[in-house]
Amino acid sequence: MKRINATVRGIGHHLPERIVPNEEFEKFLDTTDSWIKSRTGIESRRFAADGETTADLGSKAAINALADAELDPIDIDTIVLATSTPDNTFPATATKVQSAIGMRRGYAFDVQAVCAGFIFALVNANALIRAGEAKRVLVVGAETFSRILDMTDRRTCVLFGDGAGAVVLEANEAGEGRLERGILSTDIHSDGRFRELLYVDGGVSTTQTAGYLRMDGKEIFRHAVKKLNETAQLAIDKARLDAAAVDWIVPHQANYRIISATAKKLGIPEEQVVLTIKGHGNTSAASIPLALSEAKARGQIKVGEVILLMAIGGGLTWGSVVLRW
Ligand code: UT7
Repeated sequence: MKRINATVRGIGHHLPERIVPNEEFEKFLDTTDSWIKSRTGIESRRFAADGETTADLGSKAAINALADAELDPIDIDTIVLATSTPDNTFPATATKVQSAIGMRRGYAFDVQAVCAGFIFALVNANALIRAGEAKRVLVVGAETFSRILDMTDRRTCVLFGDGAGAVVLEANEAGEGRLERGILSTDIHSDGRFRELLYVDGGVSTTQTAGYLRMDGKEIFRHAVKKLNETAQLAIDKARLDAAAVDWIVPHQANYRIISATAKKLGIPEEQVVLTIKGHGNTSAASIPLALSEAKARGQIKVGEVILLMAIGGGLTWGSVVLRW
């Protein structure tokens, strides 16, 4: 029996127009541009305009990914959208994107794994494709984290931004004798014992409010370096490769120091790490597809190259994907 791989056919992203430099926070918080830059690598982030929603950003990213793939909405079977900042409690933001892009068939649903959301969405999409449930899946990561930031808490509000990215995954026969492209391996985990290290203090069933993001940054940092290294190594092993075969790491962009420590532990040089944190901040589930899309636009990623994606987020949730572009 022929094996089916999920390969990337197109990619796109969309960022809100408003750029918020670190200096803006100096006006109302006891913080400085130099603290934010030196502790995180962030210089600015984008915030959505009033009324601009996660679905708006996600739809534009999806349209850009479809254009890159040279496909129409009719060609797509499924949308899997990762977000922790949905437009509404229900229906799924994915269904709003479905109607906004004019997709009149198939099905769309959300995945919620916070900053690891795009990895979890890719794992779902890959499984649907390999099981023959879908031929082409639009995988979207979209967030408006600015809506859940406590602007009086300097430990969190300076870290996050808004944005969206999307990829079109397509079923292809794994070619005999040809270089195997697409998703080569996946590895995901969660551990609910750590949910209070990073959470939102509101919700439908608890407070009937949206709530604000709360984080024990130091503890998350400690978990991040260890768990990202472990999952990356597992995914590389599952793909039957070694770290030297990885051409690019495209990590979740939460903190430059986490990214750099993880790359070092894996023995992958920093020139092979895609960095977008400087201008995006942490965009949660959107950060990996945003970084992938920017990397492609910069000419960093080429057909045939091996890419390691990895992320950790609230839950805790964490995981990695190895794919050949
Ligand atoms: O995407 C999900 C995953 N999230 C992450 O990966 C985030 C992981 N954590 C981090 O990135 C880092 O822990 C932070 C960037 C959040 C914090 O950096 P840190 O080096 O761990 O700083 P800290 O929390 O140990 O704080 C050091 C000092 C404290 O002051 P005292 O207690 O030493 O007087 C903080 O109050 O820095 C202070 N501080 C700030 N100072 C100026 C915290 N935030 C700020 C700020 N401006 N914005």
